[in-house]
Amino acid sequence: MRLILRFVLPLVLAMGVIAYNVVPLVDSLTLKWFGRDLDIRSKLISNTMQEPLADLIKSNSVARVNRFFDQVTQDERLFALGFCDGANTLRFKTKTFPESINCSDSTLSDGERSNIINVQQGPLHIAVHPIDSQGTRLGKLVLVHDMSFVQRRSSDTKKYIFYFFVALGVVISLITVLIAYLSQRGLMLGIRSLLRGESLLKLNQIKSPELLPLAKDLRVLVRELEQDRRAKDENQISWNAKTLKTILHEDLAGDEVLIVSNREPYIHVRKDNKIEIQFPASGLVTALEPIMRACSGTWIAHGGGSADREVVDKNDHVQVPPENPSYQIRRVWITKEQEAGYYYGFSNEGMWPLCHIAHTRPTFRTSDWEKYVEVNEKFAKTVIEEAKTDDPVILVQDYHFALLPKMIREKLPNATIITFWHIPWPNPEAFGICPWREEILEGLLGSSIMGFHTQFHCNNFVDTVDRYLEARIDRETSTISYGGEMTAVQSYPISIEWPPQWLKNQKPVSEARSRIRMLNNMNQDRLIGVGVDRLDYTKGIIERFMAVERFLDLHPEWVGKFTFIQIAAPSRSSIEQYQNFDSQVRALAAKINKRFGSPGYEAICLKVEHHEPPEVFEYYRAADVCMVTSLHDGMNLVAKEFVAARDDERGVLILSQFTGASRELPEALIVNPYNSDQCATALQIALTMPANEQRDRMKSMRGLIREYNVYRWAGRMLMDAARMRQRQRLMVKMKSSKRLSKERSRA
Ligand code: F6P
Repeated sequence: MRLILRFVLPLVLAMGVIAYNVVPLVDSLTLKWFGRDLDIRSKLISNTMQEPLADLIKSNSVARVNRFFDQVTQDERLFALGFCDGANTLRFKTKTFPESINCSDSTLSDGERSNIINVQQGPLHIAVHPIDSQGTRLGKLVLVHDMSFVQRRSSDTKKYIFYFFVALGVVISLITVLIAYLSQRGLMLGIRSLLRGESLLKLNQIKSPELLPLAKDLRVLVRELEQDRRAKDENQISWNAKTLKTILHEDLAGDEVLIVSNREPYIHVRKDNKIEIQFPASGLVTALEPIMRACSGTWIAHGGGSADREVVDKNDHVQVPPENPSYQIRRVWITKEQEAGYYYGFSNEGMWPLCHIAHTRPTFRTSDWEKYVEVNEKFAKTVIEEAKTDDPVILVQDYHFALLPKMIREKLPNATIITFWHIPWPNPEAFGICPWREEILEGLLGSSIMGFHTQFHCNNFVDTVDRYLEARIDRETSTISYGGEMTAVQSYPISIEWPPQWLKNQKPVSEARSRIRMLNNMNQDRLIGVGVDRLDYTKGIIERFMAVERFLDLHPEWVGKFTFIQIAAPSRSSIEQYQNFDSQVRALAAKINKRFGSPGYEAICLKVEHHEPPEVFEYYRAADVCMVTSLHDGMNLVAKEFVAARDDERGVLILSQFTGASRELPEALIVNPYNSDQCATALQIALTMPANEQRDRMKSMRGLIREYNVYRWAGRMLMDAARMRQRQRLMVKMKSSKRLSKERSRA
C-alpha cells in the first residue's frame, strides 16, 4: 500500500497541475477558432444578402425587410440581424436584436469587423458588413451570432480533457506500480538470496537494465557487509566442538568431509598376543583428531600398525575412537618398498629437510620420487572410492601428499580441496633445489585452499610459485590462478582442542609433581625441566641439552637441584640421519650426566620411548619449566599443550623464536636455540620466576589458546571452503544460464 501511495500520489498531483494549466488554454483557443469560423460565416451570409437586401432597402418596405431578416435568421446560429443606415440609425432589426447594441457604437464603425460581447444570454459574436448599391453605401448590416454553442462545446472539451487526464493518470499509475512492484520483488529476491549465500546469482538475474547498476552496487555492499559480519562472527564465536558442528550443518549443509594424512590417529599394534591401541606422537593427529570427532567423516591414512589389518572390516574401515566411535578410519596399505621410497625417502629425506632450515641436507632420489607419485596415486584412488558425492570437502594434510590435490581435482572437479602444510615453506631459492619443484607446485595448486601456519610461509609459497610457474598471482587477495583453477593461499595457525581431552582424568598438580619425582627416583624438591618431542633433528634437542649444560656451568648451585627430563618419541628410525641424531642425543646426554651427575642425580633424564598422551600431560603438570627449542617449526603444539595442561597457572615456557607458536605466545621466554648463553639465562629466569609472574604469563597464554583453539582453526578453513563452494556453485549456474541465453538467442 505504501508503495502504491509513493508512486500514485506524486503522479496524481503532477497530472492535476498539468490539467489545471491546460484547460483555460484549450478554452481560449477554441473560442478563437470558433470566432474565426463565425467571421467567415458572417461574411458569407452578408455577401448572399447584399443584393436582395439593397433592393429591399431601396423599396423602403419595413415589412419586407423584416420578413427577409426573419427568413435568414431561421438558421439557429444566427441569433439576430440589424441594419444601420448612413446616419447610424437602426432602421431594420429582428426582434431578437439585443437592446445593448448601438449603431453608433465604435465597435460597429464602418468597414468589415467583428467583435465578441457578453450579454445576459451569453457571448455573442457581432459582425458588421457594409451594404452597397451601385457604388453607393446604403449602410451596414449587423450580424449577431449566438456563441452559447461555443460555451457548450468548450465545457464539453473541458470535461473530456478532465476525463482524459484522469484515465491517463490511472493507466500510468498502474503501469508504474506494477513495474516498481515487479522490480522491487526481483531485487528483494536477489538481496534475500544474496544474504543467504546463493546471492550473486539472483542479483545477476535481475533483468531490468535500469536496476543493474543498483544491483552491482548492492553486490559490492552485501559482499562488504558479509565479510564484515564474518570477521565479527569469527571473533565473537566461542569455538568448540559444537560450534564446529553447527558450521558444518549451516555453512556446509552437512556436506561430506574427508581427511587424508599419512599418519593415522589410532594405531593398532600387536604386543604379546594382545592388540594395543597407540595414539601417535604427532602434532597433526593432536590437532585433527578432535576435529574428526566433531565432523564424523572419514579419515584416510596409511595403515602402519602391526595389527592394523586385523581390526578393519572388508572395506578396510575401522570405527574410532575405540571407546566411543564417532568417525571411521579408512586404512590404505602400502608395500615396504613404497613406504621406503614415499615416506622415508622422498617425504622425510627430501621434503622434510628441504622445508626446515635445520642444516640437514635433503636427499632426492628418482626411485623415491617414483614411489611418492605411486603412493599419491593410490591415495587419490582411495579418496575417489570413499567419496559418496561428487563435491566432498577434502582436507589433505602435509608434505606427504603434494601431488594429491591435482590428482583428486582431475577426478572430482567439484570437490573443495583444502591442503594444509604442517611444516614451514622455505624461500624460493631453498625450494628450488628440489628436482621436481614444478610438479610439486602444480600438484598443490589443485587445491582450492592452500593453508600454512603463518603469513610468512604463505608469502614464501606465493614467491616460489611466482618464481617457477607461469601463474597469475593476485597478492592483494592472496590467490593464485593456474591452469584455469584458482587457489587461495591463507594462514591458519593450528592449535589444540580446548580443554584437551587428556586433562580430564589428571590428578591435581601437587600429586603429579610428587608422582613424577617418585617415578624418576628424584627427591621431592627437585626442580624439573621437561621437553617432549619426536626424536627429530629439527626439534633442537641437542641445542637444548647444550643450554642445560651451559646453565649448570654458569649456575653450579643448581647441580643436584635441577633435572631436565627429555621425552623423545622414536621417529623415522629407518633413516640414517635420524639414527645418527639418536646417537648424538644419547651421547650428549651421557656426556652432560657424566660431567654433572652423581649417585642418585642426573642432570638430563633421557626417555627415548613412546609415551601415551595422559603420561605426557602428567609430565607437563609436574614440571617447573618446559623447553621448546625447535630450530625451525611450523607451529609446535607441545608449547600449546604445556600451557593447556597447566590449569594451576604455574610453570614457565621457554620457546624458540623459530616456531610458529612464538608469534602467538609472546608471554613465553622467547629464545634463539642456537644461543646457548641466552637459553641458559632463560632457564635461570624461569627457575627463579616469582609465582605471580608465572601466573600472569600463564593466564594470558591460556586465554589465547582457549580462544584460538583447534576448532577455530578448522572452523575458519571450513567457513572459507563454504564461501568458496557457494561462489563455485554460482559460477556454474551463471555459466549455464549464459550458455542457455546464448543458445536461445541463436535459436
Ligand atoms: O610436523 C610435520 C608432521 O607430519 C606433523 O604433522 C606430525 O606431527 C609429525 O610430522 C609426525 O611425523 P611422522 O608422521 O612422520 O611420525
